[in-house]
Amino acid sequence: MGRYLITGGAGFIGSNFIHYLFEKHSDVQVLNLDKLTYAGNLENLTDIEKNPNYKFVKGDICNEPLVEELMQDVDYVVNFAAESHVDRSIGSPDDFIKTDVYGTFVLLEKARKYGIKKFIQISTDEVYGSIEKGSFVETDPLMPSSPYSASKSGADRLAYSYFVTYNLPVIITRCSNNYGPYQYPEKLIPLFVTNAIEDKKLPIYGDGKNVRDWIYVMDHCDAIDFVMQQGVDGEIYNIGGNNERNNLEITELILKGLGKSKELMTYVKDRPGHDRRYSLDCTKLNQMGWLPKYLFSDAMKLTIEWYKNNLEWWKKIKSGEYLDYYKKHYGL
Ligand code: NAD
Ligand code: DAU
Repeated sequence: MGRYLITGGAGFIGSNFIHYLFEKHSDVQVLNLDKLTYAGNLENLTDIEKNPNYKFVKGDICNEPLVEELMQDVDYVVNFAAESHVDRSIGSPDDFIKTDVYGTFVLLEKARKYGIKKFIQISTDEVYGSIEKGSFVETDPLMPSSPYSASKSGADRLAYSYFVTYNLPVIITRCSNNYGPYQYPEKLIPLFVTNAIEDKKLPIYGDGKNVRDWIYVMDHCDAIDFVMQQGVDGEIYNIGGNNERNNLEITELILKGLGKSKELMTYVKDRPGHDRRYSLDCTKLNQMGWLPKYLFSDAMKLTIEWYKNNLEWWKKIKSGEYLDYYKKHYGL
Protein backbone atom coordinates (compact mmCIF):
# COMPACT_ATOMS: atom_id res chain seq x y z
CA MET A 1 0.00 0.00 0.00
CA GLY A 2 2.81 2.43 0.67
CA ARG A 3 4.19 5.04 3.02
CA TYR A 4 1.86 7.75 4.35
CA LEU A 5 2.70 11.12 5.80
CA ILE A 6 -0.31 12.01 7.96
CA THR A 7 -0.20 15.56 9.24
CA GLY A 8 -2.28 16.44 12.30
CA GLY A 9 -2.54 12.73 13.11
CA ALA A 10 -2.82 13.36 16.85
CA GLY A 11 -6.05 15.31 16.40
CA PHE A 12 -9.61 14.03 16.14
CA ILE A 13 -9.99 12.96 12.49
CA GLY A 14 -6.27 12.33 11.89
CA SER A 15 -6.03 9.84 14.78
CA ASN A 16 -9.21 8.08 13.65
CA PHE A 17 -7.76 7.89 10.14
CA ILE A 18 -4.54 6.30 11.42
CA HIS A 19 -6.64 3.69 13.30
CA TYR A 20 -8.66 3.16 10.11
CA LEU A 21 -5.54 2.67 7.95
CA PHE A 22 -4.01 0.03 10.22
CA GLU A 23 -7.33 -1.80 10.52
CA LYS A 24 -8.12 -1.72 6.80
CA HIS A 25 -4.71 -2.25 5.19
CA SER A 26 -2.07 -4.75 6.23
CA ASP A 27 0.87 -3.14 4.45
CA VAL A 28 0.96 0.54 5.38
CA GLN A 29 3.65 2.64 6.99
CA VAL A 30 2.49 5.77 8.75
CA LEU A 31 4.55 8.81 9.65
CA ASN A 32 2.49 11.13 11.86
CA LEU A 33 3.69 14.75 11.89
CA ASP A 34 1.88 16.79 14.53
CA LYS A 35 2.78 19.96 16.39
CA LEU A 36 0.73 18.86 19.43
CA THR A 37 -1.17 22.08 19.83
CA TYR A 38 -3.93 22.15 22.47
CA ALA A 39 -5.92 19.88 20.09
CA GLY A 40 -3.22 17.25 19.53
CA ASN A 41 -3.31 14.33 21.95
CA LEU A 42 -1.03 11.30 21.77
CA GLU A 43 -3.40 9.41 24.05
CA ASN A 44 -5.59 9.03 20.95
CA LEU A 45 -2.97 6.62 19.59
CA THR A 46 -1.66 4.66 22.59
CA ASP A 47 -2.73 1.33 21.07
CA ILE A 48 -0.69 2.05 17.94
CA GLU A 49 2.48 3.69 19.28
CA LYS A 50 4.44 0.40 19.46
CA ASN A 51 3.48 -0.72 15.96
CA PRO A 52 6.78 -0.99 13.99
CA ASN A 53 5.03 0.52 10.96
CA TYR A 54 4.09 3.67 12.86
CA LYS A 55 6.30 6.63 13.73
CA PHE A 56 5.41 9.90 15.42
CA VAL A 57 7.33 13.13 14.84
CA LYS A 58 6.50 16.19 16.90
CA GLY A 59 6.80 19.17 14.59
CA ASP A 60 5.20 21.99 12.66
CA ILE A 61 4.07 21.71 9.04
CA CYS A 62 5.41 25.27 8.64
CA ASN A 63 8.94 24.01 9.44
CA GLU A 64 10.47 23.72 5.95
CA PRO A 65 13.68 21.78 6.77
CA LEU A 66 11.71 19.25 8.82
CA VAL A 67 9.02 18.79 6.15
CA GLU A 68 11.76 18.45 3.51
CA GLU A 69 13.47 15.70 5.50
CA LEU A 70 10.24 13.76 6.09
CA MET A 71 8.87 14.12 2.57
CA GLN A 72 11.80 12.14 1.12
CA ASP A 73 10.49 8.89 2.60
CA VAL A 74 6.79 8.97 1.76
CA ASP A 75 4.47 8.10 -1.14
CA TYR A 76 1.22 9.71 0.01
CA VAL A 77 0.39 12.84 2.00
CA VAL A 78 -2.92 13.35 3.80
CA ASN A 79 -3.01 16.85 5.22
CA PHE A 80 -5.28 17.04 8.27
CA ALA A 81 -3.11 19.51 10.20
CA ALA A 82 -5.01 22.71 10.84
CA GLU A 83 -6.35 25.03 13.42
CA SER A 84 -9.92 23.77 13.23
CA HIS A 85 -12.24 25.60 15.65
CA VAL A 86 -14.34 28.46 14.26
CA ASP A 87 -14.78 30.23 17.63
CA ARG A 88 -11.03 30.31 18.20
CA SER A 89 -10.51 31.72 14.70
CA ILE A 90 -12.82 34.61 15.59
CA GLY A 91 -10.89 35.43 18.76
CA SER A 92 -7.42 34.88 17.33
CA PRO A 93 -7.03 34.24 13.57
CA ASP A 94 -3.22 34.41 13.47
CA ASP A 95 -2.41 30.70 13.83
CA PHE A 96 -5.15 29.81 11.34
CA ILE A 97 -3.43 31.74 8.59
CA LYS A 98 -0.01 30.37 9.53
CA THR A 99 -0.93 26.69 9.78
CA ASP A 100 -3.87 26.32 7.44
CA VAL A 101 -2.49 28.45 4.59
CA TYR A 102 1.30 28.73 4.96
CA GLY A 103 1.69 25.22 6.39
CA THR A 104 -0.20 23.75 3.44
CA PHE A 105 2.07 25.72 1.10
CA VAL A 106 5.17 24.21 2.72
CA LEU A 107 3.76 20.69 2.34
CA LEU A 108 2.80 21.29 -1.31
CA GLU A 109 6.23 22.68 -2.17
CA LYS A 110 8.07 19.71 -0.68
CA ALA A 111 5.59 17.23 -2.14
CA ARG A 112 6.30 18.74 -5.56
CA LYS A 113 10.05 18.58 -5.02
CA TYR A 114 10.01 14.89 -4.04
CA GLY A 115 7.38 13.76 -6.56
CA ILE A 116 4.92 12.21 -4.16
CA LYS A 117 2.22 9.97 -5.65
CA LYS A 118 -0.88 11.56 -4.09
CA PHE A 119 -1.58 14.65 -2.00
CA ILE A 120 -4.95 14.66 -0.25
CA GLN A 121 -5.96 18.09 1.00
CA ILE A 122 -8.58 17.77 3.74
CA SER A 123 -10.75 20.79 3.12
CA THR A 124 -14.22 21.44 4.53
CA ASP A 125 -17.82 22.17 3.52
CA GLU A 126 -17.41 25.55 5.26
CA VAL A 127 -15.48 26.89 2.25
CA TYR A 128 -18.80 27.29 0.36
CA GLY A 129 -20.30 29.43 3.11
CA SER A 130 -23.92 29.32 4.21
CA ILE A 131 -26.90 28.25 2.06
CA GLU A 132 -30.59 28.76 2.96
CA LYS A 133 -32.04 26.32 0.40
CA GLY A 134 -30.52 23.65 -1.85
CA SER A 135 -27.04 22.15 -1.61
CA PHE A 136 -23.58 23.02 -2.88
CA VAL A 137 -21.91 21.08 -5.70
CA GLU A 138 -18.14 20.95 -6.13
CA THR A 139 -18.09 23.61 -8.87
CA ASP A 140 -19.93 26.24 -6.81
CA PRO A 141 -17.98 29.38 -5.91
CA LEU A 142 -16.39 29.64 -2.46
CA MET A 143 -17.85 32.21 -0.04
CA PRO A 144 -16.18 31.50 3.31
CA SER A 145 -17.30 33.68 6.17
CA SER A 146 -15.03 33.02 9.18
CA PRO A 147 -11.25 33.38 9.46
CA TYR A 148 -11.20 29.58 9.81
CA SER A 149 -13.13 28.87 6.62
CA ALA A 150 -11.29 31.64 4.74
CA SER A 151 -7.92 30.11 5.67
CA LYS A 152 -9.18 26.64 4.67
CA SER A 153 -10.37 28.10 1.35
CA GLY A 154 -6.90 29.55 0.77
CA ALA A 155 -5.35 26.12 1.36
CA ASP A 156 -7.98 24.42 -0.81
CA ARG A 157 -7.31 26.71 -3.79
CA LEU A 158 -3.53 26.63 -3.27
CA ALA A 159 -3.61 22.84 -3.42
CA TYR A 160 -5.62 23.02 -6.63
CA SER A 161 -3.12 25.47 -8.12
CA TYR A 162 -0.33 22.92 -7.56
CA PHE A 163 -2.29 20.44 -9.65
CA VAL A 164 -2.96 22.90 -12.48
CA THR A 165 0.46 24.56 -12.50
CA TYR A 166 2.85 21.77 -11.51
CA ASN A 167 0.83 18.62 -12.20
CA LEU A 168 1.05 17.57 -8.55
CA PRO A 169 -1.46 14.71 -8.06
CA VAL A 170 -3.73 16.61 -5.68
CA ILE A 171 -7.22 15.55 -4.57
CA ILE A 172 -9.36 17.85 -2.43
CA THR A 173 -12.08 16.60 -0.08
CA ARG A 174 -14.76 18.82 1.45
CA CYS A 175 -16.49 17.05 4.30
CA SER A 176 -19.33 18.11 6.58
CA ASN A 177 -19.41 18.07 10.42
CA ASN A 178 -17.77 14.99 11.92
CA TYR A 179 -18.59 13.39 15.28
CA GLY A 180 -17.20 10.37 17.10
CA PRO A 181 -14.44 9.30 19.53
CA TYR A 182 -11.44 11.52 20.37
CA GLN A 183 -13.09 14.82 19.35
CA TYR A 184 -11.81 17.72 21.41
CA PRO A 185 -14.60 18.78 23.79
CA GLU A 186 -14.91 22.30 22.43
CA LYS A 187 -16.97 21.19 19.39
CA LEU A 188 -20.76 20.94 19.70
CA ILE A 189 -21.30 17.19 20.20
CA PRO A 190 -18.43 16.29 22.56
CA LEU A 191 -18.92 19.56 24.49
CA PHE A 192 -22.62 18.92 25.03
CA VAL A 193 -22.22 15.21 25.79
CA THR A 194 -19.49 15.81 28.37
CA ASN A 195 -21.25 18.83 29.90
CA ALA A 196 -24.48 16.85 30.19
CA ILE A 197 -22.66 13.93 31.86
CA GLU A 198 -21.38 16.45 34.43
CA ASP A 199 -24.79 18.19 34.76
CA LYS A 200 -23.32 21.40 33.37
CA LYS A 201 -25.17 23.87 31.15
CA LEU A 202 -25.21 23.37 27.36
CA PRO A 203 -24.53 26.77 25.73
CA ILE A 204 -26.72 27.07 22.61
CA TYR A 205 -25.68 29.91 20.34
CA GLY A 206 -28.45 32.24 19.11
CA ASP A 207 -31.78 30.49 18.47
CA GLY A 208 -30.22 27.02 18.04
CA LYS A 209 -31.73 26.63 14.57
CA ASN A 210 -28.45 26.58 12.63
CA VAL A 211 -28.21 23.46 10.50
CA ARG A 212 -25.22 21.19 9.97
CA ASP A 213 -24.86 17.89 8.08
CA TRP A 214 -23.44 15.30 10.51
CA ILE A 215 -21.20 12.40 9.47
CA TYR A 216 -19.62 9.73 11.69
CA VAL A 217 -15.84 10.12 11.65
CA MET A 218 -15.25 6.53 10.45
CA ASP A 219 -17.40 7.22 7.39
CA HIS A 220 -15.25 10.26 6.66
CA CYS A 221 -12.09 8.12 6.99
CA ASP A 222 -13.58 5.51 4.68
CA ALA A 223 -14.43 8.18 2.08
CA ILE A 224 -10.88 9.57 2.17
CA ASP A 225 -9.50 6.07 1.59
CA PHE A 226 -12.01 5.59 -1.23
CA VAL A 227 -11.00 8.77 -3.08
CA MET A 228 -7.33 7.91 -2.60
CA GLN A 229 -7.97 4.69 -4.54
CA GLN A 230 -10.65 5.81 -6.99
CA GLY A 231 -10.51 9.60 -7.16
CA VAL A 232 -9.17 11.54 -10.12
CA ASP A 233 -6.25 13.93 -9.71
CA GLY A 234 -7.26 17.59 -9.65
CA GLU A 235 -10.83 16.75 -8.58
CA ILE A 236 -12.80 17.92 -5.57
CA TYR A 237 -15.10 15.54 -3.68
CA ASN A 238 -17.89 16.59 -1.33
CA ILE A 239 -18.28 14.10 1.54
CA GLY A 240 -21.50 14.28 3.53
CA GLY A 241 -23.54 12.18 5.90
CA ASN A 242 -26.88 12.97 4.23
CA ASN A 243 -28.05 13.90 7.70
CA GLU A 244 -28.97 17.53 8.29
CA ARG A 245 -30.06 18.53 11.79
CA ASN A 246 -30.37 21.80 13.62
CA ASN A 247 -28.50 22.34 16.87
CA LEU A 248 -31.65 22.02 19.01
CA GLU A 249 -32.33 18.55 17.57
CA ILE A 250 -28.76 17.49 18.35
CA THR A 251 -28.99 18.91 21.87
CA GLU A 252 -32.28 17.17 22.63
CA LEU A 253 -30.98 13.88 21.28
CA ILE A 254 -27.93 14.06 23.56
CA LEU A 255 -30.01 14.90 26.62
CA LYS A 256 -32.42 12.07 25.83
CA GLY A 257 -29.55 9.63 25.22
CA LEU A 258 -28.08 10.44 28.62
CA GLY A 259 -31.41 10.70 30.45
CA LYS A 260 -30.75 14.34 31.41
CA SER A 261 -33.12 17.27 31.84
CA LYS A 262 -33.80 19.88 29.16
CA GLU A 263 -33.17 22.44 31.90
CA LEU A 264 -29.48 22.11 31.07
CA MET A 265 -30.15 23.93 27.77
CA THR A 266 -28.97 27.57 28.00
CA TYR A 267 -29.25 30.13 25.22
CA VAL A 268 -26.15 32.33 24.94
CA LYS A 269 -25.12 35.13 22.61
CA ASP A 270 -24.67 34.06 18.99
CA ARG A 271 -21.33 33.32 17.32
CA PRO A 272 -20.35 36.40 15.22
CA GLY A 273 -20.94 35.68 11.52
CA HIS A 274 -22.60 32.37 12.44
CA ASP A 275 -23.32 30.43 9.21
CA ARG A 276 -26.98 29.43 9.17
CA ARG A 277 -26.84 26.21 7.19
CA TYR A 278 -24.28 24.01 5.48
CA SER A 279 -25.46 21.55 2.86
CA LEU A 280 -23.56 19.38 0.41
CA ASP A 281 -24.68 17.69 -2.78
CA CYS A 282 -22.65 14.45 -2.77
CA THR A 283 -23.95 13.01 -6.05
CA LYS A 284 -20.45 12.94 -7.55
CA LEU A 285 -19.02 10.65 -4.84
CA ASN A 286 -22.23 8.62 -4.50
CA GLN A 287 -22.26 7.87 -8.24
CA MET A 288 -18.70 6.57 -7.94
CA GLY A 289 -20.08 4.04 -5.45
CA TRP A 290 -19.36 5.56 -2.04
CA LEU A 291 -22.12 6.01 0.55
CA PRO A 292 -21.93 6.53 4.32
CA LYS A 293 -22.29 3.21 6.17
CA TYR A 294 -23.29 4.34 9.67
CA LEU A 295 -26.85 5.21 10.65
CA PHE A 296 -26.93 8.49 12.57
CA SER A 297 -28.95 7.02 15.46
CA ASP A 298 -26.50 4.10 15.88
CA ALA A 299 -23.36 6.19 15.53
CA MET A 300 -24.64 8.79 18.01
CA LYS A 301 -25.26 5.98 20.51
CA LEU A 302 -21.70 4.70 19.93
CA THR A 303 -20.36 8.23 20.39
CA ILE A 304 -22.25 8.94 23.60
CA GLU A 305 -21.13 5.54 24.97
CA TRP A 306 -17.52 6.32 24.09
CA TYR A 307 -17.55 9.58 26.08
CA LYS A 308 -19.29 7.79 28.99
CA ASN A 309 -16.59 5.09 28.96
CA ASN A 310 -13.64 7.42 28.54
CA LEU A 311 -14.15 9.94 31.33
CA GLU A 312 -10.43 10.15 32.04
CA TRP A 313 -9.63 11.15 28.45
CA TRP A 314 -11.88 14.21 28.39
CA LYS A 315 -11.84 15.18 32.08
CA LYS A 316 -8.12 15.79 31.81
CA ILE A 317 -8.70 18.10 28.87
CA LYS A 318 -11.64 19.94 30.42
CA SER A 319 -9.88 20.64 33.69
CA GLY A 320 -7.19 22.66 31.88
CA GLU A 321 -7.18 25.81 29.80
CA TYR A 322 -10.49 24.85 28.21
CA LEU A 323 -12.42 26.01 31.28
CA ASP A 324 -10.79 29.45 31.36
CA TYR A 325 -11.61 29.92 27.69
CA TYR A 326 -15.29 29.17 28.13
CA LYS A 327 -15.58 31.16 31.34
CA LYS A 328 -14.09 34.16 29.58
CA HIS A 329 -16.34 33.88 26.54
CA TYR A 330 -19.66 32.74 27.91
CA GLY A 331 -19.47 33.06 31.67
CA LEU A 332 -20.24 29.34 32.01
P1 NAD B 1 -8.29 18.89 15.38
O1 NAD B 1 -8.23 20.31 15.82
O2 NAD B 1 -8.89 17.87 16.28
O3 NAD B 1 -6.82 18.37 15.00
C1 NAD B 1 -5.89 19.15 14.35
C2 NAD B 1 -4.52 18.52 14.57
O4 NAD B 1 -3.55 19.29 13.82
C3 NAD B 1 -4.05 18.53 16.03
O5 NAD B 1 -3.52 17.28 16.38
C4 NAD B 1 -2.97 19.61 16.07
O6 NAD B 1 -1.98 19.39 17.05
C5 NAD B 1 -2.41 19.53 14.65
N1 NAD B 1 -1.77 20.76 14.20
C6 NAD B 1 -2.26 22.03 14.32
N2 NAD B 1 -1.37 22.91 13.81
C7 NAD B 1 -0.30 22.19 13.35
C8 NAD B 1 0.91 22.52 12.70
N3 NAD B 1 1.23 23.79 12.44
N4 NAD B 1 1.75 21.52 12.36
C9 NAD B 1 1.44 20.22 12.63
N5 NAD B 1 0.31 19.85 13.26
C10 NAD B 1 -0.56 20.82 13.60
O7 NAD B 1 -9.02 18.94 13.97
P2 NAD B 1 -10.01 17.87 13.28
O8 NAD B 1 -11.38 18.16 13.68
O9 NAD B 1 -9.43 16.51 13.47
O10 NAD B 1 -9.85 18.31 11.74
C11 NAD B 1 -8.81 17.75 10.94
C12 NAD B 1 -8.89 18.36 9.56
O11 NAD B 1 -10.17 18.10 8.98
C13 NAD B 1 -8.74 19.87 9.53
O12 NAD B 1 -7.99 20.21 8.39
C14 NAD B 1 -10.17 20.39 9.41
O13 NAD B 1 -10.20 21.63 8.75
C15 NAD B 1 -10.79 19.30 8.57
N6 NAD B 1 -12.23 19.09 8.73
C16 NAD B 1 -12.77 18.90 9.96
C17 NAD B 1 -14.13 18.63 10.09
C18 NAD B 1 -14.76 18.41 11.45
O14 NAD B 1 -15.98 18.30 11.53
N7 NAD B 1 -13.99 18.30 12.53
C19 NAD B 1 -14.93 18.57 8.95
C20 NAD B 1 -14.36 18.78 7.69
C21 NAD B 1 -13.00 19.02 7.60
O1 DAU C 1 -18.60 21.81 8.66
C1 DAU C 1 -17.33 21.30 8.90
C2 DAU C 1 -16.72 22.04 10.05
O2 DAU C 1 -17.43 21.65 11.21
C3 DAU C 1 -15.23 21.81 10.22
O3 DAU C 1 -14.56 22.31 9.10
C4 DAU C 1 -14.71 22.51 11.49
O4 DAU C 1 -13.34 22.18 11.71
C5 DAU C 1 -15.52 22.03 12.66
O5 DAU C 1 -15.13 22.72 13.83
C6 DAU C 1 -17.02 22.23 12.42
O6 DAU C 1 -17.38 23.63 12.45
P1 DAU C 1 -18.75 24.13 13.11
O7 DAU C 1 -18.60 25.56 13.49
O8 DAU C 1 -19.92 23.75 12.30
O9 DAU C 1 -18.75 23.17 14.41
P2 DAU C 1 -18.99 23.45 15.96
O10 DAU C 1 -19.01 22.12 16.64
O11 DAU C 1 -18.09 24.50 16.50
O12 DAU C 1 -20.48 24.04 15.96
C7 DAU C 1 -21.55 23.30 15.40
C8 DAU C 1 -22.82 24.13 15.56
O13 DAU C 1 -23.13 24.23 16.96
C9 DAU C 1 -22.66 25.58 15.07
O14 DAU C 1 -23.92 26.01 14.54
C10 DAU C 1 -22.38 26.36 16.35
C11 DAU C 1 -23.15 25.60 17.41
N1 DAU C 1 -22.58 25.62 18.78
C12 DAU C 1 -21.30 25.22 18.93
C13 DAU C 1 -20.71 25.21 20.17
C14 DAU C 1 -19.27 24.79 20.35
C15 DAU C 1 -23.37 25.99 19.85
O15 DAU C 1 -24.56 26.33 19.72
N2 DAU C 1 -22.78 25.97 21.10
C16 DAU C 1 -21.48 25.61 21.30
O16 DAU C 1 -21.02 25.65 22.46
